Amino acid sequence: MKLINNSILLGFLFTLGICNSQNTKTAQASLKNNFKGDFYIGTAINASQIEEKDTKADALIRKEFNSITAENIMKSMFVHPEKDRYDFAMTDKFVAYGEKNKMFIHGHTLIWHSQLAPWMAKIKDSTEMKAFMKDHISTIVSKYKGRINSWDVVNEALNEDGTLRKSVFLNTLGENYLIDAFKLAAQADPNVDLYYNDYNICEPKKREGVIKLVENIKTHGGKIDGVGIQGHWRLDSPSLEEIEKSILAYSKLGLKVAFTELDVTVLPNPWDLQGADVNQNFEGSAEMNPYPKTLPDSIQTKLAERYASIFKLFLKHKDKICRVTFWGVHDGQSWLNDWPIKGRTNYPLLFDSNLKPKKAYNSVMRLKELQNKELVKKHALKN
Ligand code: G3I
Repeated sequence: MKLINNSILLGFLFTLGICNSQNTKTAQASLKNNFKGDFYIGTAINASQIEEKDTKADALIRKEFNSITAENIMKSMFVHPEKDRYDFAMTDKFVAYGEKNKMFIHGHTLIWHSQLAPWMAKIKDSTEMKAFMKDHISTIVSKYKGRINSWDVVNEALNEDGTLRKSVFLNTLGENYLIDAFKLAAQADPNVDLYYNDYNICEPKKREGVIKLVENIKTHGGKIDGVGIQGHWRLDSPSLEEIEKSILAYSKLGLKVAFTELDVTVLPNPWDLQGADVNQNFEGSAEMNPYPKTLPDSIQTKLAERYASIFKLFLKHKDKICRVTFWGVHDGQSWLNDWPIKGRTNYPLLFDSNLKPKKAYNSVMRLKELQNKELVKKHALKN
């Protein structure tokens, strides 16, 4: 009996990857391997990464991540620059890259008020807008039918108070544009997962807005499979409590939850300065760019703790979460170096600008290793 138990325990250890040294076939430690079976670990990649121009970055992407999102090249201004012309050169490369590396491929994004081609922004009436939406969504989604695994059908349609943003889509079509967009995407590829994606949707008012939006789409026969919580977060907000409430609220709607654009800024925010004029130009201000050369160890530690607590929560709800995607591969590439103030040095990701894993990376990896050890201990005690 004891013998059988020991062999079961050994098998269990191998499954968890804890017997690495004795089993050469066991996968190497990496984000994607450590969280295998929990959720996909994704990254947003830029044009040069899609084209594999940087061999070091390429090796890192393939080692650590099993899902990709295009940071920019799939947005409407790039893919549909003129009314009668699509440009699929880069999107084809992006999809081929994901397929070659057996990755989960996410499409970002079909309907978004930002980064529109100039001709789109000029659309004034409902007939023209309906024709645009039908052509744009059907053409792109059917082109990659069966190859792209999920789509952000609509991106950032809400204001902070949960009301609908006055975009060119709302202005021409009214709120039905949301239902139409999801219906068109489902017609073009009935099997692809369709998402609504937005930022700050762990905040109570905006969360309520998402719930209403989803219910409205469903009530009117639209197919929606998931909510993408972007996750452009800070060291101290949103609270874990609000993040958890959001996971629970969205999954209660019968939807998958994905964290789609995760990063954690460590820099001061101009909007937090008492009495600051938000239009003030902070470019070049040393006060607003406190770590131009390196991040002090105390802040590295804070960042590591923040990431560990976020991932601990993700693991708690892994049955509801299908993907966690970082918005960029490494700090040097992050959009947060240029927003909301241009030319700063930010440190929001798990790899530094030399592509080296940071304390935050280790804290996330360790979390999973500790969890596995706990499981082994429990199993051993039982037997
Ligand atoms: O393509 C031009 C290039 O020709 C020009 O030389 C260069 C000069 O600045 O600009 C290039 O365009 C930039 C583009 O990224 C591609 O690199 C734009 O200026 C820049 O504004 C744009 O920023 C992107 C931003 O979306 C646009 O809104 C960021 O890289 C991208 O990370 C960011 O991603 C968004 C998500 O799509 C939606 N959620 C929020 C997230 C962060 O803003």
